[in-house]
Amino acid sequence: MGRFGLPGAQAASTPASAGENPAAPAPHAAPLQSLASPPPPPMPPKPAGQVKGAPPSQLDIRLRLHSRLIEELDLAKLDKLDEKDMRREVMSLVADFARAERMALNTADLQELGASIYDEMVGLGPLEPLLKDDSINDILINGPYQVYVERRGELELTPVRFRDNDHLLRIVNRIVAGVGRRIDESQPMVDARLQDGSRVNAAIAPIAIDGACVSIRKFSKKPLTLEKLVGLGAMPMAVADFMHGAVKARVSTVISGGTGSGKTTLLNALSAAISHGERLITIEDAAELQLQQPHVVRLETRPPNIEGKGEIRQRELVKNALRMRPDRVILGEVRADEAFDMLQAMNTGHEGSMATIHANNPREAIGRLEQMIAMGGLAISPDAMRQQIASAIGMIVQVMRLADGKRKITHVTEITGMEGQVVQMQDIFTFNRTHTDADGTVHGEFRATGLRPRCIEEMQRRGIAYDMANFDPTRVLGAS
Ligand SMILES: Nc1ncnc2c1ncn2[C@@H]1O[C@H](COP(=O)(O)OP(=O)(O)O)[C@@H](O)[C@H]1O
Ligand SMILES: [Mg+2]
Repeated sequence: MGRFGLPGAQAASTPASAGENPAAPAPHAAPLQSLASPPPPPMPPKPAGQVKGAPPSQLDIRLRLHSRLIEELDLAKLDKLDEKDMRREVMSLVADFARAERMALNTADLQELGASIYDEMVGLGPLEPLLKDDSINDILINGPYQVYVERRGELELTPVRFRDNDHLLRIVNRIVAGVGRRIDESQPMVDARLQDGSRVNAAIAPIAIDGACVSIRKFSKKPLTLEKLVGLGAMPMAVADFMHGAVKARVSTVISGGTGSGKTTLLNALSAAISHGERLITIEDAAELQLQQPHVVRLETRPPNIEGKGEIRQRELVKNALRMRPDRVILGEVRADEAFDMLQAMNTGHEGSMATIHANNPREAIGRLEQMIAMGGLAISPDAMRQQIASAIGMIVQVMRLADGKRKITHVTEITGMEGQVVQMQDIFTFNRTHTDADGTVHGEFRATGLRPRCIEEMQRRGIAYDMANFDPTRVLGAS
């Protein structure tokens, strides 16, 4: 008996397989009378592909009940009822359903099921069960009839459906209104953050052609720690230890990678190395970092209002942060001309500051920084710019999402200075792919390159121990 009191046997008798329309009422179900709306339009063809995740669960039952309620209720009318009436209405429909489905539920079970269904109806609708499922990282809605989720790095098509685009739009509106934003034809794209910290991007007509598209990056309640990342095979302990020591020794670090490669996750995990005595200022477009230190000031950018005014960008926040006496500045992602101010911070007593950047390898990360600074239109020569970069940044860590969905730290690279007009860098640890299985699994090994990082001296000065044997290039530090 689980959270909603649904007996397992019942769950097993109501499979929601890919071949069946999960929204269709069970054939023997009693008609739901009150608030009934005209019959819904026929469902569009099912998208191809198996729904994974197999045995039918409480989630399936709730999704089915949910789709059924959506079909039977006139949601627009429901929105106008007051809370008590709405609750009563939903409760009675749930009771009808349970009776028709011959669910063995006692009064308390029924109350609980009714309450959770009610929350779904007035909250984020069919999305609620997905939001509550902690094994899901991302929810991707492509119009009302196609909802994918990402679990453990893999995309799965779910049986979740909205009644139609209007239903989906109502939910999108509920999300953005909840954070004081709006979405309509004149402003068809919105970024928002849910109450629980999850990030949402919504795009509607006219830019989204096949119905509203919503991408939700769920807020993980328990952020991944370095130990957990090691456990997941993202890097061996020897590499984690080194990065931890470097951050502790105030080596300014840039984490580079593609979208969804795990940059923010690693930044968050590495931040655990910072001492609790330091004052930290975080700057983000949408706050997702969850630093564990007691002394953290969080700043967030503000988009322009409907008249295009009042925007506050990262650059202004970085400048302001420097007047707030930080020990370190943590910039969620450097995207534009704030790059220059961030480098200055790193060069002027805020060593150990950190940021992430969107790039495919450490060398490209440097190139992107140069571009960002150049676009800021500052009167600074390319040489001076590179000099700034070389003296500001101590370490670049490259993260990558491999073809099999696994995320790995592929390079830990040290910046050692300038030679002529080129920023000098040397890899300390790398992940080298060896081969790929027929099923797509990528294999490879982590090794040191044999170069001894310069920052090891600083680590030693600060009494941070590190096992030098890990720099032996003949040793495989970890394999997958
Ligand atoms: N090593 C890892 N193993 C498994 N999942 C990971 C790993 N690193 C990150 N994730 C998950 O991947 C998703 C994207 O990570 P995130 O750090 O937000 O990426 P980015 O900042 O590069 O866009 C998150 O849901 C996160 O929990
Ligand atoms: Mg990120």
